[in-house]
Amino acid sequence: MARNICFCAAIAAVLISLCIAGSLDIPIYRQRLVVGDEAGGKNTKASETKPNPIWHNDTIPLQKFMDAEYFGIVRIGSPAKNFKVVFNTMWGDTWIPSAHCGLFEIACMTHTRYDSSRSSSYQEDGSPFSTGNTTNDLQGFVSQDRFRLDHLTIENQSFIEMTHIPWIPYGLSKADGIVGLGFPDLKRIKAPPFFTNLLKQQLIDEPMFSFYFNRDPTTERAGRLVLGAPDRKHVNESTLITVPVIGKKVYWKIKMDRMVVDVRNKSHPFCKNGCETHLDSSTNEITGPREEIEHINELLGARSFVPAIFKMDRYMVNCREFAKLPPIDIVIAGTNFTINSKYYVQHLTYESLEVCLSPFVPSDDTVWQLGGAFLMEFYTEYHFDHAQVTIGKTRF
Ligand SMILES: *[C@@H]1O[C@H](CO)[C@@H](O)[C@H](O)[C@H]1NC(C)=O
Ligand SMILES: *[C@@H]1O[C@H](CO)[C@@H](O)[C@H](O)[C@H]1NC(C)=O
Ligand SMILES: *[C@@H]1O[C@H](CO)[C@@H](O)[C@H](O)[C@H]1NC(C)=O
Ligand SMILES: *[C@@H]1O[C@H](CO)[C@@H](O)[C@H](O)[C@H]1NC(C)=O
Ligand SMILES: *[C@@H]1O[C@H](CO)[C@@H](O)[C@H](O)[C@H]1NC(C)=O
Ligand SMILES: *[C@@H]1O[C@H](CO)[C@@H](O)[C@H](O)[C@H]1NC(C)=O
Repeated sequence: MARNICFCAAIAAVLISLCIAGSLDIPIYRQRLVVGDEAGGKNTKASETKPNPIWHNDTIPLQKFMDAEYFGIVRIGSPAKNFKVVFNTMWGDTWIPSAHCGLFEIACMTHTRYDSSRSSSYQEDGSPFSTGNTTNDLQGFVSQDRFRLDHLTIENQSFIEMTHIPWIPYGLSKADGIVGLGFPDLKRIKAPPFFTNLLKQQLIDEPMFSFYFNRDPTTERAGRLVLGAPDRKHVNESTLITVPVIGKKVYWKIKMDRMVVDVRNKSHPFCKNGCETHLDSSTNEITGPREEIEHINELLGARSFVPAIFKMDRYMVNCREFAKLPPIDIVIAGTNFTINSKYYVQHLTYESLEVCLSPFVPSDDTVWQLGGAFLMEFYTEYHFDHAQVTIGKTRF
């Protein structure tokens, strides 16, 4: 679980401890958005009375950091304060760092913190939250406040004010917190999650969201998250397929028929008899059973490089040669979704340092996870009521 929620995908130990956020956080950020703590004119006016009745959807531009972390912005409180958040399909709740975290909470200190005493729309809840009681767990308590998106304003949104945040993996992440986009049953706190409130407060008509990611290195813009009716500008519509969510409605879990790696004219099939996979917007990784993933990395010529103490299991490929790595076919509902090394290799540069990471990360879970390495080439729609996912080839 820890890895699922991780912003940080790897630490390049050889090259100083360069923490690479593996998250595909979905930034909510773009030219239209007013940057700064105070909300801009039009948004403030809209939210002071009622949600603007004209908008029945919202678009959250995504921003990226080092080809690794993808996040958007939500503005919380009154006056509104900007928080960078990862829109995470593998989480149910929303959390941000709290002004109440201790003096030695470095991961808290290095991020924007929420201070309820400075928000006139704050409402107390106070229910405690924790994922356990080790230093690697998250701890905090529940609060309620107003959330502003680009056009929409959610009232009384409950979230967790985190008072303890583990340094690994959050210390070096660019994003401050997480907005969970899993099914409501994934939530751990009592109050309604982000998406439920969007519907309950009738801010959007369609109970769905969609992601378009863009890894173009020449721009800060990294795609967008659309809440409500989808805008299919960034997908080749003739390639769209729709598949059901399988199992309990908790995660966005679908069936994968198989995965095929072709090297030296030989096809190597994985997940041979079909398997289950989550769609994970929070990480760049593709995870799967250890043996299969290790075999895939071997075929890609990827070598393990992160010291075991970081428990990150990342593999590195040669930056000079990654363009020659084979495409990988991911077959879903009989359709071939092919990912290319240009997109699936995570290319990190920091000053003159350069690291290229294989997205394939072993896991102890039998369920696979398709993160950014897949979502980078395929546009996805997530429909809560129909419990369906629609996937198509991205048009950049
Ligand atoms: C928390 O710590 C107590 C002992 O202090 C232990 O009994 C309990 O199992 C721990 N809870 C979790 C969730 O780890
Ligand atoms: C938010 O909470 C306040 C106080 O409990 C309540 O008066 C108001 O109707 C709520 N707004 C919405 C949209 O639920
Ligand atoms: C989103 O809402 C705006 C304002 O009503 C509308 O112009 C736009 O077409 C909507 N987008 C979609 C994809 O429905
Ligand atoms: C869309 O996909 C179809 C089917 O794969 C392909 O024939 C067509 O050229 C694509 N269109 C664009 C604009 O890429
Ligand atoms: C792959 O197949 C092609 C055509 O059949 C052949 O020319 C080429 O030498 C083969 N490559 C390897 C590495 O076996
Ligand atoms: C998927 O597409 C690739 C490239 O078009 C092709 O080589 C491969 O045979 C296809 N694989 C499957 C399983 O259909």
